[in-house]
Amino acid sequence: MNNSRIKAGLIGSPLKKSLSPRIFKALSPLSGEKYSYALLETDGAGLGQTLKKIEREGWAGFNVTLPLKEKIIPFLDALSPGSEAVGAVNAVRIKDGKLEGHNTDTKAMSLALQEAGCRPRGRECVIWGAGGAARAAAWILASGGAETVHIHNRSVLRADGLMKGFSRMFPRTKFAIRKFTDPPAAASTVFINATPLGMYGSLADNLRFNGPHGSLYLDFTYDACARSLTPFLQNRAGKTISGIDLLIYQALKSSELYSGRPITAGDMVKLKDQIKSRLRKG
Ligand SMILES: NC(=O)c1ccc[n+]([C@@H]2O[C@H](COP(=O)([O-])OP(=O)(O)OC[C@H]3O[C@@H](n4cnc5c(N)ncnc54)[C@H](OP(=O)(O)O)[C@@H]3O)[C@@H](O)[C@H]2O)c1
Repeated sequence: MNNSRIKAGLIGSPLKKSLSPRIFKALSPLSGEKYSYALLETDGAGLGQTLKKIEREGWAGFNVTLPLKEKIIPFLDALSPGSEAVGAVNAVRIKDGKLEGHNTDTKAMSLALQEAGCRPRGRECVIWGAGGAARAAAWILASGGAETVHIHNRSVLRADGLMKGFSRMFPRTKFAIRKFTDPPAAASTVFINATPLGMYGSLADNLRFNGPHGSLYLDFTYDACARSLTPFLQNRAGKTISGIDLLIYQALKSSELYSGRPITAGDMVKLKDQIKSRLRKG
């Protein structure tokens, strides 16, 4: 058992429903790593000052949430190849005074798809949103050989940026932009909510669309008590992946970066389930 405390935390806004402090607290007795985990609410104004404070206080690293996953990139000294390709950072390791950006959301999605036995190969996929979570999802779907990824977003400019970058990286996957309120393409069988809707703001009716039998529904949002199904996942006839599983997996992958201790594939699923059950007990 390692007794020294690892300083870490989360930056972004809003953080009022964040479960990350409870996840890292639950992780301590299970993994042996003791964390002191702080929340620093910031929407990006004065981000440089926030980062100086974090470095002064000797944090080993920190997680990044909306709306900073893309905005933080110019402030970093280095990017992992994965986060550079995705264009979004959700975990920063501080090593030898340098800020190193990573993307553990992609790793979390990959672990969750694997656990659910879902392969994107050849499938037509819908993503609502075009921010950091959507980029992570598009990356995993295209890396896994998805046939088409339809991006439904309010801001066409943001969707266009995602589509152009990813089309270059993944010439075998088609990327298409659709209006946020457009119905999904008929052949779609993978549906991903990468907006805050259902967690912050009520779920828009167009996101309640049901695909054919056997479709997969993945929600990045999560219930702050980790107990009930989020609105996006309610009444689905198909496989579902919850934002809680993604959140815990990304925290475990982030913990590997901050502590320098890898977690085996078998322990990863076990720890995720143990932490989820602790969160549910309150
Ligand atoms: N479970 C997890 O591990 C996990 C991981 C990552 C993210 N998340 C959650 O996923 C959500 C998205 O995070 P993010 O980092 O991708 O945020 P982000 O980079 O700020 O992107 C947010 C996206 O949602 C869209 N959006 C926001 N409000 C909307 C509304 N009222 N109606 C329609 N679209 C709206 C935005 O559209 P515009 O471009 O048009 O503004 C944008 O595409 C957040 O709730 C976050 O907490 C969870």
